[in-house]
Amino acid sequence: MTLLRLEQVTRTVLPPDQPALTILDGVDLAVEEGDRISIVGRSGSGKSTLLNILGLLDLPTSGVLEFQDRAVRSYSSGERDRIRGQHIGFVFQQFNLLQGRTALENVATPLLYATGRSFWRRRAIAAEMLEQVGLAHRLDSLPERLSGGEQQRVAIARALVRGPRLILADEPTGALDLDTGQSVMAVVEEVATRTGAALIVITHDPTIAATARTRYRLDRGVLSSAETGAEAA
Ligand SMILES: Nc1ncnc2c1ncn2[C@@H]1O[C@H](COP(=O)(O)OP(=O)(O)OP(=O)(O)O)[C@@H](O)[C@H]1O
Ligand SMILES: [Mg+2]
Repeated sequence: MTLLRLEQVTRTVLPPDQPALTILDGVDLAVEEGDRISIVGRSGSGKSTLLNILGLLDLPTSGVLEFQDRAVRSYSSGERDRIRGQHIGFVFQQFNLLQGRTALENVATPLLYATGRSFWRRRAIAAEMLEQVGLAHRLDSLPERLSGGEQQRVAIARALVRGPRLILADEPTGALDLDTGQSVMAVVEEVATRTGAALIVITHDPTIAATARTRYRLDRGVLSSAETGAEAA
């Protein structure tokens, strides 16, 4: 099934006292179940703006955006929130963990909004997810006591704990050294493969971009294939 479809998507903003600024320009993209997509682009090319649209956080200014064959515009913002919570997991460069809460509590938090799960059930699901990212021995650690790589693993466990169909990662390894970044990406890919989720990674790291099956580049808001001429870039 096609998870997401974008056709001629633009995103324009109107800064005060300035001409309209086109951040995304005619973006076409289809995301199928289980896809592995990477998007590279310079700072300011529109990557995060695109990710916010893919994650149903923002709507296009014009063009078509469909989630599972239905126009996203036809959903209320409450419905969009529900779809996002249920089907989309986000991983960011800044891990955005709740300080003062253990790894287990951080991962269990998204389950609070899923209905019908008792306290102990939530803890069991969160513990299993942490085990899957290699942190079974860190359940009760506070984020401030964890290394960057471990914090990102907690953030990944939290993003994946509700079994999303789509994982959106914006510079997930940006705050990590090369080796740690690669092992963190391996964990994301492994979980995505096991659950059949699609994975879209925005990255500056050519090694990580190269591991995706489908590679795009974004240049001043224009999305194009990065399959050819990637070596020359
Ligand atoms: N609400 C807004 N109002 C005005 N300009 C904006 C707004 N949102 C984004 N921009 C501009 O649009 C461009 C694209 O922003 P975006 O955050 O998508 O870039 P990016 O590719 O993610 O960059 P980076 O790699 O630095 O994270 C930037 O020049 C940014 O300043
Ligand atoms: Mg960005």
